[in-house]
Amino acid sequence: MSRQRVLSGVQPTGILHIGNYLGALRNWRGMVDDYDTFFCVVDMHAITVPEAVDPARLREAIRSVAAIYIAAGIDPDKATIFVQSDVPAHAELAWILTCMAPMGWLKRMTQFKVKGGDNEGVGTGLLTYPVLQAADILLYDADLVPVGADQKQHIELTRDLAERFNHRFGDVFHLPKPMIPKQGARIMGLDDPEAKMSKSTAVERPGHAIGLLDTPKQVKKKINRAKTDSGTCTIYEDASPGIRNLLGMFAAFTGEDPAEIGKRYDGRGYGYLKADLIAAAEAELAPLRARYEELRGDESVLDAILERGAERANAQANVVLARAKQAMGLGR
Ligand code: TYM
Repeated sequence: MSRQRVLSGVQPTGILHIGNYLGALRNWRGMVDDYDTFFCVVDMHAITVPEAVDPARLREAIRSVAAIYIAAGIDPDKATIFVQSDVPAHAELAWILTCMAPMGWLKRMTQFKVKGGDNEGVGTGLLTYPVLQAADILLYDADLVPVGADQKQHIELTRDLAERFNHRFGDVFHLPKPMIPKQGARIMGLDDPEAKMSKSTAVERPGHAIGLLDTPKQVKKKINRAKTDSGTCTIYEDASPGIRNLLGMFAAFTGEDPAEIGKRYDGRGYGYLKADLIAAAEAELAPLRARYEELRGDESVLDAILERGAERANAQANVVLARAKQAMGLGR
């Protein structure tokens, strides 16, 4: 039997943080042996707010995210690592699916609403962005999409669009399932544990997130300054949101149960919990940083990986695109 397919991606915007790592990247790493994996730097998703696009910065961010994938331990000999805009089929299928997508479905997307969707001046790409994401996934006949909890709604939309297309034009698309980790699927801001840790907020507020390329000193300082409360309770169910967030991170880093971790530190003062969390974070981030520096030291290695990735991705994506066009009657 052929291996199941996996596709996922990260937008090259803002600062990549431990939420992206624990919610997504770290889980991708473990899949490359058992699945046929495609990991994409979704650069076309990064232009939905054109006012925020700086060409030089975008070019650098694309390479940086690709290097972070590899530095996070994703073996480029086993996984296909590629840049979305190197595969024109993504934009083409996105258009086809856009024509199948009811406006109501897109307007209901949480991310559209959060990002100011009710403003008439907002770019149309902000509305149709989940359709491009559906194309990303469907082009690879993906069985599984490993993501953080915030992407669940987009995977559901992908399934709905695929079913709608299949119902009308025959069995063209394979229906994917989200794969959301038990721990680390929704890491909250260090400075505001009521809000999801976010790449763009990380740029605006240095205390918000632990960046994957932060120095050990920065990691330490940020965790030590993370918002908690004036008590000493670390019992998971009773703890304040800030402490629950730290326990959740700790659990995701070490694979332990957050409630068990909480029991160890209860009543002792948060400094102990924080010190051990800093060590757990460092144990994973130190090798990542080192591999990243090494990779960025010789850009030709990354170029070769992305070139090979683009070839493999194009070969796969064009098959599915042709299937969709054929089913609809497009082309000669
Ligand atoms: P993006 O770039 O915002 O995030 C990349 C991945 O990181 C996860 N994530 C988090 N996980 C836990 N805690 C957090 N605070 C946190 N913040 C982000 C996200 O769930 C995601 O898995 N639309 C997508 C990118 C995309 C995509 C795709 C993903 C485009 N096409 C196809 C999968 C398949 C996005 O903006 O993710």
